[in-house]
Amino acid sequence: MLTWQIGVDLLVITILTMAACGSGVENVADGVCKTGGCGPVSAVRSDQARYDNYRIYNVQFDNEEQIKLFQKLEDQSDSLTFIGHAREIGQKLSILVAAHRVADFADILKTYKMQHRVLTYNFQEKIDRNLREVIPEGIDPSKYDWHHYFHLKTIYEWIDQMAVKYPERLTVLDMGTSTQGNQIKGVKVGHNPSNKAIFIESGIHAREWIAPATATYIINELLTSTADYVQKLASNYNWIIFPCVNPDGYKYTFEHDRMWRKNRQLFGTCRGVDLNRNYPDHWNTTGSSSDPTRYDFAGPTSASELETQRLIEFIRNNVEKEHIKTYIALHSYSQMLMFPSGYTKERVPNYDDLQEFGKKAAAAIKAESGRDYVSGSLYETIYPSSGGSMDWAYSEAKIPIAYTFELRGPPDSEDLFILPAAEIQPTASEAFAAIRAIVEAAAEKDYYK
Ligand SMILES: *[C@@H]1O[C@H](CO)[C@@H](O)[C@H](O)[C@H]1NC(C)=O
Ligand SMILES: [Zn+2]
Repeated sequence: MLTWQIGVDLLVITILTMAACGSGVENVADGVCKTGGCGPVSAVRSDQARYDNYRIYNVQFDNEEQIKLFQKLEDQSDSLTFIGHAREIGQKLSILVAAHRVADFADILKTYKMQHRVLTYNFQEKIDRNLREVIPEGIDPSKYDWHHYFHLKTIYEWIDQMAVKYPERLTVLDMGTSTQGNQIKGVKVGHNPSNKAIFIESGIHAREWIAPATATYIINELLTSTADYVQKLASNYNWIIFPCVNPDGYKYTFEHDRMWRKNRQLFGTCRGVDLNRNYPDHWNTTGSSSDPTRYDFAGPTSASELETQRLIEFIRNNVEKEHIKTYIALHSYSQMLMFPSGYTKERVPNYDDLQEFGKKAAAAIKAESGRDYVSGSLYETIYPSSGGSMDWAYSEAKIPIAYTFELRGPPDSEDLFILPAAEIQPTASEAFAAIRAIVEAAAEKDYYK
């Protein structure tokens, strides 16, 4: 038994060593890495999750029986990835179905006469295309752009480079480290002490790569755009932006599993807390799971996670000092602009204002790109969920303008979270237009007085 174990370990080490040296066979022969391809990223290529022949179905629920059936199905199966939960009649839900379950799943749809569409027949093709749009780690950060996706390291190097380029306007911020010791780095653009501040949280869900890309786009616009309205936004407000508040998860999506969502905290044989279910506001009351194997695991206790604690501490220390009056959380996908609450359908005190600003933001997007974004409270618009950062920022930190954006694609996207890189620039641009609309409308109503 012991021998067998050692044998397996040796085999694994051999595979990793080979992969660590990239494709150059001569490097393997002498066992020394000579190329820039060595290091943890290339070393783990050999154990990347794959989704060959996984299908995405979009199903519609027409009666209670179908809803109950699919609730049970979600509980029972780890080879079906539900994008949301079965809840109500008329609802449409996307489900990623493992290749070995396709026949069985298709049979269920037929047996219960469910309306459905197949959105994608081989999900791995989407992932492969997407990974080709990633610029390798180690690139000169001056090559950073909004036509590719970038590793955490490159994003951080780009931030540092911008700080050197714009020393009067950009300050690098450090929220502290994550569970696995990665830095949670951000920026403050502008430092007029009498300005009100806008806080942007991004990348809390690892696989939603468009979120960090959008955050860096906004930083870049604020620093480099010559457009009159951008310069006004940059000089009238201070902007505190953290592109990646879940760095462990983000790295994991590049190195091991493109579909990872949570952080990387260990719970026996599985990992990860959904950080956007972990905040201490009506924690673990609705739309979250107590099971660590689930994608929406709320954590063992409220604010159990280091990443959650870091953000809470940062906001508590800065909300008054920096006059933070607006909180924007960037996510994908579904094209929605949502405000509190997530845990209840009860309306928050300034519901009418938030509704009005959200509608203006959606109109601004429509005017810019023609895309349809839906606005409303989170509970009404996407699905009930508790322990979200936006609810906490609004009710505990008392930040009166709080939104969660679900960026592209549409609710029935055939790409799920794998947004083509060609859409980064237009998505980020329309998100910035929406933020502008919200900020300008809120200013008119004296929220920044
Ligand atoms: C979270 O809520 C569920 C369902 O109400 C409950 O069973 C579980 O014990 C709760 N978890 C904790 C840690 O309180
Ligand atoms: Zn998300």
